[in-house]
Amino acid sequence: MKAKVLVARATFPDVIERLQQKFEVESNQEDKIFSPAELLQKMQGKDAVVITASEKMTAEVIAANPQLKAICNVAVGYNNIDVAAATAAGVMVTNTPDVLNETTADYAWTLLMSNARRVCESEHWLRAGHWKHWRFDSFLGADIHGATLGILGMGRIGQAIARRSMGFDMNVIYHNRSRATPEQEAYANNARYVSKEELLRGADHLILVLPYSPQTHHIIGAAELALMKPTATLVNIARGGIVDDVALIAALREKRIASAGLDVFENEPALHPDFLTLSNVVLTPHIGSGSEKTRRAMADCASANLAAAMSGQQPPNLLNP
Ligand code: DGY
Repeated sequence: MKAKVLVARATFPDVIERLQQKFEVESNQEDKIFSPAELLQKMQGKDAVVITASEKMTAEVIAANPQLKAICNVAVGYNNIDVAAATAAGVMVTNTPDVLNETTADYAWTLLMSNARRVCESEHWLRAGHWKHWRFDSFLGADIHGATLGILGMGRIGQAIARRSMGFDMNVIYHNRSRATPEQEAYANNARYVSKEELLRGADHLILVLPYSPQTHHIIGAAELALMKPTATLVNIARGGIVDDVALIAALREKRIASAGLDVFENEPALHPDFLTLSNVVLTPHIGSGSEKTRRAMADCASANLAAAMSGQQPPNLLNP
């Protein structure tokens, strides 16, 4: 008998077709956003569920389906899943690491450069018909080349971001829970490990690449923003909750930092409405890993995890301890 699988969000049709060859699949190709109650109901009788970072697998949801054997997240970040509750219930949890490192690193640079050089702000101004003359002081920004790049969170994506800075002759400083190995530091453009305070004070631009957890909740708040340079750009491609939005809005409004590039938000898709009133912030809808090739790789990675879990093997990206 085929295992029963819920694919909770829309994906590439051929991915669904391949899954259907192995499993009894309930898909959601119209991409309806299920309420928690609907999700609970859809999960009834399923052996596995394939979700994105938007679906929350709380202890309650996990406990409601005793048949559940696997939760396959199509994302590297898994703060949407109560892994301890899943482990206690004997449910395997998997994610999709590595396949998105380079694409997400590209996107961190997209946000950094478009903010530092005020691309979106000047483009909106031009579209609004304000451009009448070339001006010597139009939209002056901050340099990237030769600057000091700060990275908070030096995992694999952080290293891929740092490596790209070689082409801009940048110095890299970083802070992380633990120091990277000498090989990783060398790969990451000879990144130098510093304290969090030194990172905030020393970075000309700062990129956040931390997972969200109770320990990293609002790790960037008013006190941290106050240490940053007024010419700095802050980029967040990780998770919204690591930044205190209210403190960031105040810092941007008062020009205590120059700009921010944000791809993730604490209560996404809801935004703090004050972000929309600021011209020195670029806001994008959580698209950091969003290239065709990488989203396919993520879907394939999740499918491989699912196949292993359903055939009684250890999935390649098992998260349970
Ligand atoms: C991830 O993989 O964690 C990305 O943020 C997409 O959800």
